[in-house]
Amino acid sequence: MSRAATGAAPGKVILFGEHAVVYGRPAVAASLATGLGATVTPFPGGPELEVPGWDLHVRLDQKGSRFDAIARGFATALDAAGVQDRALKVTVDGELPPGVGLGSSAAFAVAVLRALGEWNHAPLTGEPLLAAAHAVETVFHGTPSGLDHTVIATGGCLRFERGAQTTFTPVPLARPVPAVVAWAPRKGSTRQAVAGLRVRHEALPAHFDRVFDAIGAVTEAGLQALASGDFDRLGQLFDLNHGLLNACGVSNVDNERMVAVAREAGAAGAKLTGAGLGGAVVAVTPLGADRVVEALQRAGYKAFQTRLGTGR
Ligand code: MEV
Repeated sequence: MSRAATGAAPGKVILFGEHAVVYGRPAVAASLATGLGATVTPFPGGPELEVPGWDLHVRLDQKGSRFDAIARGFATALDAAGVQDRALKVTVDGELPPGVGLGSSAAFAVAVLRALGEWNHAPLTGEPLLAAAHAVETVFHGTPSGLDHTVIATGGCLRFERGAQTTFTPVPLARPVPAVVAWAPRKGSTRQAVAGLRVRHEALPAHFDRVFDAIGAVTEAGLQALASGDFDRLGQLFDLNHGLLNACGVSNVDNERMVAVAREAGAAGAKLTGAGLGGAVVAVTPLGADRVVEALQRAGYKAFQTRLGTGR
């Protein structure tokens, strides 16, 4: 029987506080019950990487291709996992779409590192896993905030605050949150969304500071709703946070349509998640998640049912 090793990692969503976190307010993120899996198998011509769902096939000697960053990230993962014998192939699959704010690159890094660690008979966990995932994310993103790979490697729900040092604190959940995630292509990068808000903040600092304070208060109330498992309250707070993100100018027509469709189909509340300008939205769906997914798909969006804050 031929040898194989596997690893898995969830995606993530930001539940509260994106953008305001850049201005010192707290934010909350949770892992998804949906993610990526990686399988390592022997392959004499390796190392090779295949992600069929993303139409991606990478060899390490393929310099200068559109897969260059992925190839460098893969090489960093092989080094970080201490893999010497590289006659292997890594295949990654799962439901997570790339580039819409669901933590796909960090999930890729953590799933591949877990599989390579198992392959190497030296499983990567805890701090060494976080350090290795940070190294891979740095190849993909330059200076990652660390949020994605931390919540993805840790699982569950985390409060984070950015300061001289970013702090992550586990958030107690009464139970995982039933949710629907939908997405549309992004119309701008995270960098553009953050820069646009910076310009608007500079023009009207006192007004935007009040909006960020309001988001901070919604985030604190959201933590209480998560701790008590009050999903109707959580939905109301999602709606409030989304309205405030709209006021920040980071929502677009797809984000607005997706949250409206989700609410009309019976979600308790919905918001954009991540940087905005398109990308993903998340809805709380204590009842009738199927109806919410169908309505979003009928409206032309991709969507899946999941739970937020499950373990790894
Ligand atoms: C993007 O995932 C989250 C933002 O708050 C940016 C950041 O925190 O770096 C929009």
